[in-house]
Amino acid sequence: MIVTIDGPAGSGKSTAARKLAARLEIPYLDTGAMYRAIAYEVLRQGVDPHDEAAVLGIAQSIDLDLDCGPTHTRVRVNGHDVSEAVRTMQVSQVTSSVAKNPAVRKLLVEQQRRVGAKLGSFVTEGRDQGSVVFPQADFRFVLEADLEKRAQRRYQELIADGEDVTLSEVADNLRARDLVDSKQWEPLLRDESAIVIDTTHLRIHEVVDRMHEHLRL
Ligand code: DC
Repeated sequence: MIVTIDGPAGSGKSTAARKLAARLEIPYLDTGAMYRAIAYEVLRQGVDPHDEAAVLGIAQSIDLDLDCGPTHTRVRVNGHDVSEAVRTMQVSQVTSSVAKNPAVRKLLVEQQRRVGAKLGSFVTEGRDQGSVVFPQADFRFVLEADLEKRAQRRYQELIADGEDVTLSEVADNLRARDLVDSKQWEPLLRDESAIVIDTTHLRIHEVVDRMHEHLRL
C-alpha cells in the first residue's frame, strides 16, 4: 500500500505521516529531509544556495542514505547522521532555494521512486508525493492549516528542540518560505483527486483517525 501526504510546513503532515505509518506498521518516508540534507551540505560547504550548478554538484556528489522505519526516517550524508541537524530554521531557509532547483528535484524524485520500489508499502510525505512522484498511490492526502496555527506548531517544535526563537520570527520565516515555495508546490498541492483535510482545528489523533477511516472505506 502506498499512502502520500502532502502539505505546507506546519500543516501537521510529518506527525500525521509518522503516526499513520506506525499504526499501519509500514515504513515512513520524509522527503523534506532529503531536500534539507542537501541544504545542510550547501551551508556546510559555504556554497551559494542560488548557484544552481554548484548546488546540483553537491546533490550529485554526496552519498544520501535514508533509513525508513514505521516511526522515523533517519537521513545520513556521507555516513554522518544529520536527521536532527537538518531541522534548524537556518537550514529551512536554504532548503527553500534548494527545492526550487529543477535538476535537484529530478534527482531526488528518482531517488524517492527507487526507495519506494524497495519499500513496497509505505507512507510518504512532502509537497509533490501524490501529484508527481507516486500518482499511482492507493491514497493521496493533502493537509492544510491556517498560517497562524502552522506558525504555533513550528514554534513549539523548535522550542522543544532547544532553539532560541520567537513566535513572530517563526511566523515571518513561514510566510517567507510560503512565498518562495508557493510557485514551486502550490500547483502540486492543487491535486484535484487528493483527499484534502484542514487540520487547523483538529488534534493530531483526529487527523490520523480521519485518514485511517478513508483507508478502511
Ligand atoms: O516538509 P519540510 O518542511 O521538511 O520541507 C522542507 C523544504 O523542502 C520545503 O521548502 C519544501 C521542500 N520540499 C519539496 O519541495 N518537495 C518535497 N517533496 C518535500 C519538501
